[in-house]
Amino acid sequence: MSRVLLITGGASGIGAEVARLAAAQGYAVAVNYRSKRDKAEALVAGLGGKAIAVPGDVADPSEVEAMFAATEKALGPLTHLVNSAGLYVTQARVEDFDAGDLARLFQVNVIGTMLCCREAVRRMSTARGGKGGAIVNVSSMAATTGGRAGSSAYAATKGAIDVFTQGLAREVAAEGIRANVVRPGFTLTDMTAATAADPRRVAAIAATIPIGRIGTALESAWPIMWLLSDEQASFVSGTAINASGGGFVIGAPAGR
Ligand SMILES: NC(=O)c1ccc[n+]([C@@H]2O[C@H](COP(=O)([O-])OP(=O)(O)OC[C@H]3O[C@@H](n4cnc5c(N)ncnc54)[C@H](OP(=O)(O)O)[C@@H]3O)[C@@H](O)[C@H]2O)c1
Repeated sequence: MSRVLLITGGASGIGAEVARLAAAQGYAVAVNYRSKRDKAEALVAGLGGKAIAVPGDVADPSEVEAMFAATEKALGPLTHLVNSAGLYVTQARVEDFDAGDLARLFQVNVIGTMLCCREAVRRMSTARGGKGGAIVNVSSMAATTGGRAGSSAYAATKGAIDVFTQGLAREVAAEGIRANVVRPGFTLTDMTAATAADPRRVAAIAATIPIGRIGTALESAWPIMWLLSDEQASFVSGTAINASGGGFVIGAPAGR
């Protein structure tokens, strides 16, 4: 069966690494972007095989529908989805929250992910004539801890993704669809570039990670690929893989 994968927020970071790995494994790949058109098109041009760049803001229901329609028109029936699009804003303590920022954060990270899952299930579900499939939602280790200082709102969006994915997995398991989560720990991408530019902050974060360093986008992309695999992860649904260097899972060694 041909495998058609849509990656939201696929122009950069973890999503872009998933696109490269998936294309190399023979998936037809749709790379969704919001503002990074040039990056998405350059990425697609380098993938070889069947690949397209598709615009769309995941927070906008009509753009979500258009992005799924464009993917299937160009590549055929959708079989796999990775929701990597996400915002890391509202760096604020609770007393400084801005209602508009919170709404946008939840609209993109939570509702955007849910709308994309809706479109995927409508197409993949064997109960609706589909052939089944697999979904991976990109959460965060912040979901397990409440996040680093000032990140409680972001952490709450990722907690929502974890819980939603459990419910989704249960709902669609008998319809041939698996749904899982990957939780990256601190990973060097566009999202963290500003923090990563400060060596003292990087050292402080690395000190909380038992493996002793921050992660790369590829180190989250590989577990995503494994969870997508109908061959290797065929009995895995409703679960999460932490790609965090052991951070927040096992205590950092003494001295770190
Ligand atoms: N890097 C980390 O340390 C880390 C840790 C835990 C979890 N994560 C999660 O990993 C996922 C990928 O992030 P990343 O680290 O790879 O950073 P990234 O390179 O910034 O990727 C996020 C992508 O999402 C896109 N995006 C944002 N809002 C969107 C929207 N409304 N519609 C469509 N696309 C949208 C961004 O494009 P635009 O800029 O054009 O909007 C960007 O390409 C995110 O869900 C993030 O929360 C990252």
